[in-house]
Amino acid sequence: MSDKNISPEEFDKLVEKRINLGVKNLWYPILPSWGVKNKPVGITRLGEKIAVWRSVDGQVHAISDSCPHRGARMSLGWNKGDKLACWYHGIEVDKDGMVIDVPAVDHCPMKGTKQNHSYPIKEIDGAIFAYFGDELNVEPIPLELPDELIKEEYSSFLCTAIWKVNYRYAIDNVMDPMHGAFLHGDSHTMAWGEKKAKMKLEKTDTGWMFEKEGQTGVNFDWTEFGNTGAHWLKLAIPYRKNVGPGGNFTIIGFATPIDETTCQVYFWRVRKVEGWVKDLWRFMYKTEPKDAIGMYLNRIG
Ligand code: FES
Ligand SMILES: [Fe+2]
Repeated sequence: MSDKNISPEEFDKLVEKRINLGVKNLWYPILPSWGVKNKPVGITRLGEKIAVWRSVDGQVHAISDSCPHRGARMSLGWNKGDKLACWYHGIEVDKDGMVIDVPAVDHCPMKGTKQNHSYPIKEIDGAIFAYFGDELNVEPIPLELPDELIKEEYSSFLCTAIWKVNYRYAIDNVMDPMHGAFLHGDSHTMAWGEKKAKMKLEKTDTGWMFEKEGQTGVNFDWTEFGNTGAHWLKLAIPYRKNVGPGGNFTIIGFATPIDETTCQVYFWRVRKVEGWVKDLWRFMYKTEPKDAIGMYLNRIG
């Protein structure tokens, strides 16, 4: 059936399905850096099966996770540097998706041809980002992440989790500052301020800001949505001086679709700290999970 024969209802369903699997032509975090070592890893992101591996020079590579011979998962095969060898009959596919060797036969026509999709990759602040382009937008767009993830004066910890919801609910949750005073109202960070607010939406250079009118710096009072090659969320929670270095605790978040009913969330918990304060904060954060910061970690949803 050609596209012309699709009814408006069917078209809407296709659009809904596409959106539920993730908006294309964007970068997404697909794994924390610690999740990719020597052994290839098989993951699903935006409904696509992907084989990810790291070569000895530390570079991360990602190709579609299907052998061009008979469809075995390439992620079950062997890491051979900038290529993977299929575990079933040994075909070797490189980081660009080219078939480099077909050891089981002489003169295989597949040899030297591109058979697998390859994903542009960037590794930033402890996470691996992949670009998901469609057929018309194969070349990756620039990725400009918030200062909190790339500038020296910030220090961060990345926390990830699998949430059993469509990624749109995850974004909806983080874009909803009003739930802080209720759902997290018994925490030491979000017990303060008004429980009633009028919300306003304001455009920014890269997206928009959703915030409470007349209250800021008291509770979880605003969330920013940014579109800078990736869709990110930013919020700040004021922290009292007796439970940390003072000032805001900033969270930079992403929700990466896995399939229509599951996503992986990435939350960088960021402090603007330098010198010995930075060292102390990082030490405390890692070694005292039961302290106030740990309590907060357990509560943030
Ligand atoms: S299925 Fe991979 S080489 Fe045969
Ligand atoms: Fe929450």
